[in-house]
Amino acid sequence: MTTKTWFWAATMAALCLLRAGAQTANYTPTKENLQARETFRSDRFGIFIHWGLYTMAGDGEWMMHNRNVDRDEYARLAGGFYPAAFDADRWVKAVADAGAKYICVTTRHHDGFSMFATRESDFNIIEATPFRRDVIRELADACARHGVRLHLYYSHLDWRRDDYFPRGRTGLGTGRTREGRWDDYCAFMNRQLTELLTGYGPIGAIWFDGMWDKDIYPDGVTDSTWRLTQQYALIHRLQPACLIANNHHTTPFAGEDIQIFERDLPGENKAGLSGQAISRLPLETCETMNRSWGYRMTDQAYKSTADLIRLLVRAAGNDANLLLNVGPQPDGQLPDTALARLREVGAWMKTYGKTVQGTRGGVVRPHEWGVTTQRGRTLFVHVLSDVDRLICLPYAGNRVRQAVDYRTRVPVRFVQDADGIVLKLPTTAKADPDFVVEVEFAEELKTTN
Ligand code: GLC
Repeated sequence: MTTKTWFWAATMAALCLLRAGAQTANYTPTKENLQARETFRSDRFGIFIHWGLYTMAGDGEWMMHNRNVDRDEYARLAGGFYPAAFDADRWVKAVADAGAKYICVTTRHHDGFSMFATRESDFNIIEATPFRRDVIRELADACARHGVRLHLYYSHLDWRRDDYFPRGRTGLGTGRTREGRWDDYCAFMNRQLTELLTGYGPIGAIWFDGMWDKDIYPDGVTDSTWRLTQQYALIHRLQPACLIANNHHTTPFAGEDIQIFERDLPGENKAGLSGQAISRLPLETCETMNRSWGYRMTDQAYKSTADLIRLLVRAAGNDANLLLNVGPQPDGQLPDTALARLREVGAWMKTYGKTVQGTRGGVVRPHEWGVTTQRGRTLFVHVLSDVDRLICLPYAGNRVRQAVDYRTRVPVRFVQDADGIVLKLPTTAKADPDFVVEVEFAEELKTTN
């Protein structure tokens, strides 16, 4: 190559690299991806599963960090991991019967244990446990049979590996000693993601978690530290319709397809992990059914079925999905109380599911009395508390054709003027847990986001 041609080749290569970088930074989702976002949005309800070696200790998924368990001792849990009663079909059927449309399962949590057959680490369910079953494969197959989409939780944070270096602010008592290469860790994650995205059929979403571990460094929670651009491009190349979510507690990075809120609805910040601006991406709130993600023996503080239903409805009214967590027991079964809650939510969904699924957050913003959802020309007014008999809807410029009790179809009285609409609830109406008025308008309702 002459100096001149070499110069041109190098310039062209540099330009291509720049363009590739810029393109990903700007991120143009594919058609399949946009379609998958719509499907995700209309699903509105998913079940989260936190399952791993920690399950056996019955003290939540942070037990390794909380008790400063040395990684070699922790690994001994694997030798006794034998969840004899695990039945993927029963799980997925319970999820489907609850009216949930997807299940998000931990493939590898912060403890670094892989719940699937990976070639990239022998600390995995096939090689390190007597169980020797790939539960992610079994769940993928069961999901295909029951028409439930499979989402995969994948931890960015690792309390075990030396190449997770520099370390962050958690897991400092687990015995990681050497100063391994961050490059190796990033390459390892991408190879595992490749396994997950090529070996288990269509994956609805990859759900990342743990970047916040490095928020002690000025550039700890950035695309460049975590090489998100390359990682996200890999995922979208392997499965363009696979959505990317990341529980980093900040506004979405380029390449993400879902915005997550942990333990709070969009706009709230009771748990102290939110407060970030709400983007135009599909939204998802994750919440526990009791108070723990991973199984915790002492936690029987289950939310009531009515509270869970109200949470789901409130999420929908805020234009968000609810990802509701269940922590399976050491024997591989979902706890009885959780199963009972799922059944009861499912019974409610049979009647009311259509007022939540396939809707968008309504034109009337959430109020003390409840929330609204909408589809086409229909506004569903979800009255979630019995404090008001008169429900004021500050929405004008669209004539109401009729208002009915959604369940009985009995007309609900209303007055409409230039400021909006007032619904007069019948005296028998009870927010028990949700009284739904279906209001039909003359014109299509615009979506607010
Ligand atoms: C937190 C926790 C983690 C859990 C997740 C679920 O980030 O670190 O244990 O998996 O929330 O939202």
